[in-house]
Amino acid sequence: MVIERPRRLRVTPAMRAMVAETSVAARQLILPVFVAEGLREPRPIGSMPGVVQHTLESLRKVAHEVADAGLAGIMLFGVPAEEHKDAVGSATLADDGILNLALRTVRAEVGDATLVMSDVCLDEFTNHGHCGVLAPNGSVDNDATVEIYAAMAQAHAAAGAHVVAPSGMMDGQVGAIRAALDASGADDVAIMAYGAKYASAFYGPFREAVTSSLTGDRRTYQQDPANAREALREVLLDVQQGADLVMVKPALAYLDVLRTVRENVVVPLAAYNVSGEYAMVEAAAAQGWIDRDAAIAETLTSIRRAGADVVLSYWALEYARQIVDGPRR
Ligand code: PBG
Repeated sequence: MVIERPRRLRVTPAMRAMVAETSVAARQLILPVFVAEGLREPRPIGSMPGVVQHTLESLRKVAHEVADAGLAGIMLFGVPAEEHKDAVGSATLADDGILNLALRTVRAEVGDATLVMSDVCLDEFTNHGHCGVLAPNGSVDNDATVEIYAAMAQAHAAAGAHVVAPSGMMDGQVGAIRAALDASGADDVAIMAYGAKYASAFYGPFREAVTSSLTGDRRTYQQDPANAREALREVLLDVQQGADLVMVKPALAYLDVLRTVRENVVVPLAAYNVSGEYAMVEAAAAQGWIDRDAAIAETLTSIRRAGADVVLSYWALEYARQIVDGPRR
């Protein structure tokens, strides 16, 4: 009786490289970037070591690095000055609002060399920190919010976004944005919909990154971590409404959701390797408790293996550069 020897395929790095089922390429990675208004210099984000809030000036440099490394794109988040926050997030629509300025700046720098993407959401811009506007009773007003998202997407398209990414989890947001983009002649601007976005503790460091004003939580619009079938319902609605790509977020605690979505939609699938997932690895590595580079590679590989075509990650740039520098097995 001959024993089966699967180990034969693991004998050398070359053998392992040949039979690896999953890889992570630069073209599949998106770098999320924060741009803050009124900064003189980039400001480090304490809970995300290695990540900063950029100035418009330092943003230019990152934009080129992203394009040169061959990344899929750069996802921009705007952080307005406190005095420019209000109840309805007006700074999202202003021409000189920080995110619109950032989009214009980046697009002028990189043209079509990489994809310029924008977060379509109000939370960074409202003084109450919610992703939408509030009704008189304090609840988040879905339909009034969706109208603002539609106008916001038009502003982002006009400022140079190739891709808009609605992340507010309002019902009907994708359809309304698609209609608004088409009505303003931006029919070639793509929508990457945060289809299944969970109310997650893993967004913690992001709240510092965007100096969020939120008290309370987002559980009336983001999904309950207990639900997987509901994610499919959400994602299918987004596809029906015209989403070009859909996203699952966070990534690591939701790999099962990624797999299910992958098996049920034909559009490309993105996953967001969020701030808390980044912070956990960085914190453990700083203590010497895990091998940082190996943990990053394993994290990104697992998200791709679960079914994501593209991954948003704060490690995108660093990782892509290492791929260029040589094989990792
Ligand atoms: C909402 C938004 C959030 C993140 C991306 N878009 C925060 C939230 O929903 O509370 C989180 C990203 C991360 O944690 O890395 N504009």
